[in-house]
Amino acid sequence: MQHVQTIWLTGATSGIGEALVTKFIAEGKRVALTARNAQKLSEMISQFNAEGKLMYVAADVRNEDALRGAYELVREKWGVPDLVMANAGTHINMPASQISIEACRQLFEINLYGAVNTLLVALPDMLERGSGHLVGVGSLSSYRGLPWAAAYGATKAGLNNFLQSLRFDVEPYGLTVTAVNPGFVKTQLTDLNPFPMPLIISSERAAEYIWDGLSRKKMEIHFPPLFSWACKAMRVLPYPLYHMLIRRITGSGNRRG
Ligand SMILES: NC(=O)c1ccc[n+]([C@@H]2O[C@H](COP(=O)([O-])OP(=O)(O)OC[C@H]3O[C@@H](n4cnc5c(N)ncnc54)[C@H](OP(=O)(O)O)[C@@H]3O)[C@@H](O)[C@H]2O)c1
Repeated sequence: MQHVQTIWLTGATSGIGEALVTKFIAEGKRVALTARNAQKLSEMISQFNAEGKLMYVAADVRNEDALRGAYELVREKWGVPDLVMANAGTHINMPASQISIEACRQLFEINLYGAVNTLLVALPDMLERGSGHLVGVGSLSSYRGLPWAAAYGATKAGLNNFLQSLRFDVEPYGLTVTAVNPGFVKTQLTDLNPFPMPLIISSERAAEYIWDGLSRKKMEIHFPPLFSWACKAMRVLPYPLYHMLIRRITGSGNRRG
């Protein structure tokens, strides 16, 4: 990834984010880590023992001021990052009996506004400099509606659309934008899922896919390939056929949650 030396990554303390930190450091990049848990962030800095290559600033991506403060600390230390990656996110399974405004708001604020906050604090500096790579982590669940995922899927679909539009707008300034859409990755997030997760991969494998796609400045990084291409194929099915297929596959037709 020659166009990138300095990375600011949110959601760095666990799962895909933590695996990415390992990968980025192994490849000699400088990485600024953000998440809410300051103690875990500080422990990671000691564990990696990557003198001068790691820094952390704890912040909640929902808090625009805190996030701006975090970004400014990174910029003060290392200058405007070459790549900003909005990876922080969460998931709540929501069967009909458990859909609530509060839970939906939480997902929208972290997964959508949190990601938008992250990317937009860095955008003016990148536009001025005339270079930069903005990356958002969506999900294959953004492609079409899925059971129990009314809010989660909507946040990720919103983020994907935001990233696609942003790409048109920032390209003339020399910036690039990537959407990362993973399938199932084994993390603390998916450990809570009470249903089978086809073709689930490790967070280390996910980090490899993401590294490869970022190196090639891809518009979209989707994986694992077999699963993600199947999801793409299902996008073009007529809606009633898609609905019937997903009901069959997931058994959601008779399930109340
Ligand atoms: N795992 C999958 O199968 C899968 C599939 C598709 C997409 N994704 C997406 O991939 C991303 C990473 O997921 P993961 O599976 O690696 O989850 P994870 O292991 O739970 O990690 C989530 C990370 O986000 C941070 N975070 C959560 N809420 C935050 C907030 N309000 N402010 C700042 N940081 C926050 C967490 O740290 P703190 O708690 O310390 O803040 C943690 O570092 C998410 O966007 C997720 O939606 C995951």
